[in-house]
Amino acid sequence: MTIAHSKFISNLDSSLFYTKGAMREENQSSTLGFILLGISRQQQQENLFFILFLFIYPSTLIGNLLIILAIHSDVRLHNPMYFFLANLSFVDILFSSVTVPKMLANHLLGIKVISFGGCLTQMYFMSALANTDSYILAVMAYDRVVAISRPLHYTVIISPRSCFLLVVGSWVIANANTLPHILLTSSLSFCGNQEVANFYCDIPSLLKLSCSDIHFNVKMLYLATGVFCLPLIFIIMSYIRVFSIVLCVPSTKGILKAFSTCGSHLTVVSLYYGTVMGIYVRPLISYSLKNAVITMMYTAVTPMLNPFIYSLRNRDMKAALGKLFSKRISS
Ligand SMILES: *[C@@H]1O[C@H](CO)[C@@H](O)[C@H](O)[C@H]1NC(C)=O
Repeated sequence: MTIAHSKFISNLDSSLFYTKGAMREENQSSTLGFILLGISRQQQQENLFFILFLFIYPSTLIGNLLIILAIHSDVRLHNPMYFFLANLSFVDILFSSVTVPKMLANHLLGIKVISFGGCLTQMYFMSALANTDSYILAVMAYDRVVAISRPLHYTVIISPRSCFLLVVGSWVIANANTLPHILLTSSLSFCGNQEVANFYCDIPSLLKLSCSDIHFNVKMLYLATGVFCLPLIFIIMSYIRVFSIVLCVPSTKGILKAFSTCGSHLTVVSLYYGTVMGIYVRPLISYSLKNAVITMMYTAVTPMLNPFIYSLRNRDMKAALGKLFSKRISS
């Protein structure tokens, strides 16, 4: 009772003391949503992007689904490296499904509005899945380091149980690194400009639009970007280790083997972090529509390329895909 009572008093207090804040709140509640400006302000370019996405999205779905099917249907690929790859494909499917279908539908229907709730939901899944992607890439690098530096203990260290823990751990860290930001962003006020300079809602765009004091949010965003980039540091260190081991025993065969198992992963890692760095590692002020093009690269193009990078460079993967098709055709 007393707690409820004091809560009532403090509510009353705040309503007396923060009339200015209350007016802001009113402004916020009149916010029906945001307007997604899209990738470009020019209709012609926007049409071009629409056609591109219309091609990219189904390719992403089909490519990644094929990877998952091929890995699960071929017993020879039932090992941690490929299970992690299947997980990466799974995250990529979800990742591009958070933004692209909405963008396509909006363009078709000529709608640019997204509700506040829709905006937060999109932000949540974007950030959580991007973080998961990042951590799974680190798990894949760890898998390679163990395979190359401790081949005799590989099956003990990367056991089914630790595989499971590594994957679940990636999801948990990713969500833990996202939830605080969504809560922080949901308490911001927006008064006036509601045009998001992108084709989906992301945290920097919303911070830029807010009329609240965003100093704390910006600091937290830097922290989150740090947590997001931790895997990159780990990956770089892993590869330094892999290559120092390989180069210490200089045999052409060893070097070729290391390149063939790590090459695809390195390509994906560079593509992924390269584009993300292009967006987040720069001042918030310079955040503009131009970034939307880079954003497009990592929200849509990278997830589409991953399966191609892995399947085109990997003989086992190609064999599994071939088997998958011949099985389908014969049945
Ligand atoms: C993800 O990895 C786990 C652990 O290796 C595996 O059991 C699971 O099948 C993978 N998920 C997918 C979609 O392949």
